[in-house]
Amino acid sequence: MVALSTERGRYVYLETFGCQMNENDTGRMMGLLKDMAFKTTERPDAADLIIINTCSVRDKAEHKLYSILGRFKELKEERPGLIIAVAGCVAQQLGAALFKRAPYIDLVIGTQNVHRLKEILERPLPLRRVAVTEFRGSIDANEYAHNDATDGGKAFVAIMRGCDNFCTYCIVPYTRGAEASRKSSDILREVSALVNDGVKEVTLVGQNVNSYGRGSGADVSFPELLRMTAATDGIRRVRFMTSHPKDISGELIDVFQQTPVLCRHLHLPVQSGSDSILKMMRRGYTAAQYLEKTRRIRQRYPDISLTSDIIVGFPGETDADFEATMLLINEARFDNVFAFIYSPRPGTEAAGYAGQVPAEIKAFRLQTILETQREITLAGNRALEGSIQEVMVEDRGARPGAERKISGRTSCGRIVHFHCEEGLSTGSEVRVIITAAHQNSLRGEFIAHAAQGQATVA
Ligand code: 5AD
Ligand code: SF4
Repeated sequence: MVALSTERGRYVYLETFGCQMNENDTGRMMGLLKDMAFKTTERPDAADLIIINTCSVRDKAEHKLYSILGRFKELKEERPGLIIAVAGCVAQQLGAALFKRAPYIDLVIGTQNVHRLKEILERPLPLRRVAVTEFRGSIDANEYAHNDATDGGKAFVAIMRGCDNFCTYCIVPYTRGAEASRKSSDILREVSALVNDGVKEVTLVGQNVNSYGRGSGADVSFPELLRMTAATDGIRRVRFMTSHPKDISGELIDVFQQTPVLCRHLHLPVQSGSDSILKMMRRGYTAAQYLEKTRRIRQRYPDISLTSDIIVGFPGETDADFEATMLLINEARFDNVFAFIYSPRPGTEAAGYAGQVPAEIKAFRLQTILETQREITLAGNRALEGSIQEVMVEDRGARPGAERKISGRTSCGRIVHFHCEEGLSTGSEVRVIITAAHQNSLRGEFIAHAAQGQATVA
């Protein structure tokens, strides 16, 4: 029986797909592996452990797993000691069936068992070859204790897991289980520890953060949690995602006013502009109700950035339904939209609906949305030319001597590239005048450092 040695330096190669929850899970796995003296590597052929953190929200994402596993099969044949683990939503869904599909996999770790990675890797070999996919219900404090998901001064902090909404197209309630929230004191302890480690920007993540406080575990409301997080000593920016339009409350909208470190960005997936499709999706709002909420938010905070997700080709979507979605896009004038082709997911209600839309119609509708949105996004970016924005540095242009090309983000989340002769550290806050607008970014010139102690509000 061979136990995994921790005596010499060991390397882990990690690939992460999918949403913010997977990013957080990866961060927690990295935290546990750090405790085991693992270092990360960019090269799978140099790794002792390979972890693929998978997504199954659309079939394309799921197929990626199989093509990647094919790549790693040869490595395993060359080095039988290599450990290959599959985590995330595909792991949760398929469980031990993955061993049959790819016998060279060593470990399958489901979405609610991420915190057990260390304990399982420390087992002797025969006991390590397991698929751990049971759902746990409420959240223990120790499950989220090892977050190493810090990247350039930013971190994702999970405040809850799972989803109880069961939108008819969505696999998440099946792969991530029932909603459960973390206690506010555990979340705030994690945020403080991250800030002490140099993190300046925290994104509170959950599949549906507006449900925080409703299911098991939470002791305060989500708006209250945001206020408490924003009051953490030394924190400069707080973001959150994802919000459900049916649950956005007046109290939450107020928090933006009261809390300057709360970034001026709201991701509010609408999914469709047709009331009959929204009903079949089980979204719980009409297009008019959605637009009314965005109108109120924009009236109150004219500089806020609103982004959305849209699915095209949901079963039964007619040309008229699609037209309604285009009308909504033109009315809402989102700062950006993530548009997806509907992908039937096994086990979801909509996968069995009649009227599946042909692939070429879905592709045409996707292109139509992307083209319209491209124009709206560019117009929004152009409106910022000549304005002064507060930018937090993310990439500080490492080449001394050469013209320093620095990039960062506004509070709204827009990427800004600018020049600065002096070296700026990651996480520093500066004022930049915007000189040009592009499709996906802004260009500007450094003006000055942002006043210390002031919140960044772009
Ligand atoms: N097909 C296509 N897109 C989907 N999404 C969720 N499920 C599906 C599906 N079956 C999209 C939604 C969601 C985003 C994260 O992924 O727009 O907001
Ligand atoms: Fe999926 Fe709907 Fe839950 Fe979002 S709210 S994760 S789309 S079921």
